Amino acid sequence: MNDEKQMNIEIIGTGRALPSKKVSNDDLAARIDTSDEWIRSHTGIGSRYIADEDIACSDLAAEAAKNALAMAAGYTGDDPAERDKAAAEIAGTIDMIVLATATADYFGTPSTACIVQDRICARNAAAMDITAGCTGFVYGLETAAGLLSINSRRKRALVIGAEVLSRMINWEDRGTCVLFGDGAGAVVVEKSGKNSGILQTLLFADGSGSESLVMRRGGTRNPFKKGEVIDTPICVEMNGQEVYNFAVKAITDTVEALMKAGNISIDNIVRIIPHQANARIVQAARRRLHIPAEKFYMNIEEYANTSSATIPIALDELNRSGQIKKGDLILTVGFGGGLTYGGNIIIW
Ligand code: UT7
Repeated sequence: MNDEKQMNIEIIGTGRALPSKKVSNDDLAARIDTSDEWIRSHTGIGSRYIADEDIACSDLAAEAAKNALAMAAGYTGDDPAERDKAAAEIAGTIDMIVLATATADYFGTPSTACIVQDRICARNAAAMDITAGCTGFVYGLETAAGLLSINSRRKRALVIGAEVLSRMINWEDRGTCVLFGDGAGAVVVEKSGKNSGILQTLLFADGSGSESLVMRRGGTRNPFKKGEVIDTPICVEMNGQEVYNFAVKAITDTVEALMKAGNISIDNIVRIIPHQANARIVQAARRRLHIPAEKFYMNIEEYANTSSATIPIALDELNRSGQIKKGDLILTVGFGGGLTYGGNIIIW
């Protein structure tokens, strides 16, 4: 029914971090040629959180990580000093940090994961970033599970999805800038003998679609040139319609493939957590799959698309609010730049 090695990689803590500034559709409409009506009707988005200028990806990632670590250590309160104390108790036991992001603190090196490792004092942890677009957390979970499984000395890992997309957006392009928000989510995973954890993961990629969602400038393909005037940030360029069609199929195919690989009926799944790029994408996929709307957890209205942070933020919301319980079967499904897609089935 499943891969024995992955059966006992269990999530023992979840956390999230959002910037304090919430920006509504009306706030955006005051600056660019758009409207609350257009954004809501085309995407389901009502607001998004935007990081202040002095906040980078690692800042949000470290906060989410501390919240997940504190929960793993048994603390779920909201006293910052107590939270930090609990997180510090367990940080030294983390063997690996896998951080998924498309909006790293620095280009190339150092990895944002290394900055987080230092910030949370996870002195025994190896650390690396992975780039898998909005599927980054799904890829990250499988990477961490694999790295724990392959070496008996490794026991615990931290998997983080963190983004400051607001800094990689052309704020004059209304076709993209209204879609994205900033945030981070994290989980602590542990090797355990219990009959819970990651039951099944499937990862896919279709690089032939790489141009349909791309940050074109700044890399070795299109480096900045001497004397060039840079007056827009390195920003996301997207062929919306192409990505939309890909996304509907990606959700449908991934859910069907996970059901088959896990030999599970959709009736057994308590919650589906889809990547939230556009509520219409999820609606179209769920109609194709004939799955009732209530099964899909949606929070795009508040957060917009936070890329690799979307799924761990949703997991933390569901977990802390008691909407998922021990033994529940959860399905995650991601899709995004690369193009990448994939999902996990998790026994909570
Ligand atoms: O995380 C994964 C990455 N992203 C995605 O999965 C996104 C996938 N794509 C989408 O969600 C949708 O394609 C969009 C939301 C990006 C666009 O929705 P659409 O229904 O495909 O709109 P469209 O691009 O066909 O544009 C329709 C009209 C255009 O005007 P005209 O040419 O018909 O006069 C656009 O200029 O809507 C206009 N428009 C806007 N109007 C007001 C585009 N953006 C806006 C806007 N406000 N923000």
